[in-house]
Amino acid sequence: MAPNAELELNNERSAVIINWDDGHVSKSHVTRLRFHCRCKTCVPSFSGMMPVDKDAFSDDMKITKAEIIDGIFNMEISGEAMDGHVTTIPMTWLRENCRCNTCIDSAIGRSNVKFGNPKNLPSASYESLTTKEGKFECLKKVFDDGFCVIKNVPREHLNVIEVGKMFGYIRSTLYDTHFDVKYEPDPYNSAYTSLGLPYHQDLPYYEAMPGVQLLHAMAFDESIQGGESQLVDLFRVADILRKESPENFEALCRIPGTFQTKDLARPQPAWYQNSKTHIEVDYFGNVVSIHWNPGVEGALCVRQEDEAAYYMAYVHFLRILKRPELEYLFRMQPGDLILFNNRRMAHARMEYKTSEGRRHLQGCYINLDDMKSTYMVLAHQLGKDVVSPKCGNRSWY
Ligand SMILES: [Fe+2]
Ligand SMILES: [Zn+2]
Ligand SMILES: [Zn+2]
Repeated sequence: MAPNAELELNNERSAVIINWDDGHVSKSHVTRLRFHCRCKTCVPSFSGMMPVDKDAFSDDMKITKAEIIDGIFNMEISGEAMDGHVTTIPMTWLRENCRCNTCIDSAIGRSNVKFGNPKNLPSASYESLTTKEGKFECLKKVFDDGFCVIKNVPREHLNVIEVGKMFGYIRSTLYDTHFDVKYEPDPYNSAYTSLGLPYHQDLPYYEAMPGVQLLHAMAFDESIQGGESQLVDLFRVADILRKESPENFEALCRIPGTFQTKDLARPQPAWYQNSKTHIEVDYFGNVVSIHWNPGVEGALCVRQEDEAAYYMAYVHFLRILKRPELEYLFRMQPGDLILFNNRRMAHARMEYKTSEGRRHLQGCYINLDDMKSTYMVLAHQLGKDVVSPKCGNRSWY
């Protein structure tokens, strides 16, 4: 039920002001009201259709009559494109879609990323994924904290893809539908060292880099020293950067980096390039997307007067990223599967040394929007009160 309300028109008769009893004031332009008419003609049973083209209305629509009848807003206008049409909208709809500052701010605030605590590793059991509740709880951790470690996933070839399919559609890339991160002992070179990998997101040289990565520990022998996994929430890094230096934050929102990979010798030759800013903000000024991967950066290509500001901001971001208090640090156990948001988290690996042991991770990607849809559908089916989460897909919700 919407609160009671009284209507008012602005002087130009181009907008309706709804004064709700509880103090909210919704001001709607006539075009918004007309285009969102909820009458049977304007809202057919299937979506996406409107009985007349939106450019068939006058540029100068005026409200000639507006009233509330039995909880329904009724409006007549000049410049109407449909003969005799009366715009009708339930007051409950108008209230749900109130765009006063209080409503807008609370909607944005509820969607905002909530930062996890690096001392607490979010985890779920593989068995729990057989129920909707279990899947929902796992995804909730991924959206709240940026990732979840799924324990005891049977170590069968390509099981990582089966787990991926539980949450979304598999995203193929230049690395195919899945990939192996593997060390096989070489009897002629027993003291093998595998270097650490610095913090990065995967494949930012795509226009839309993979949204979600899954990594399954098929083997991780105890004899291996090092090789711990590291994760950092880049949204948190950006948040700190903005507080410490609004100038540096603005520079990374404005001056684009260059991401590229070029390997013409591989079986499927590859040549990818994409230029974009490291941080993107939305209409409301909040961070909605981050791109970070020092390992695949090409030559910076911006106006010379922007170079100094870019590098100053870049290094500041990197220094925050390396702060130990921001780091999730853990060693995967055989059977562990990390499911993480590649648009939000940077991942890294510590150097490792092995003489005999095996370390083999199998990975794949799934689409972020599909995983988010799975989460919202599960929430709906289970009656959970969740807000569509901000997750790095360039949308504020
Ligand atoms: Fe990676
Ligand atoms: Zn209508
Ligand atoms: Zn409101």
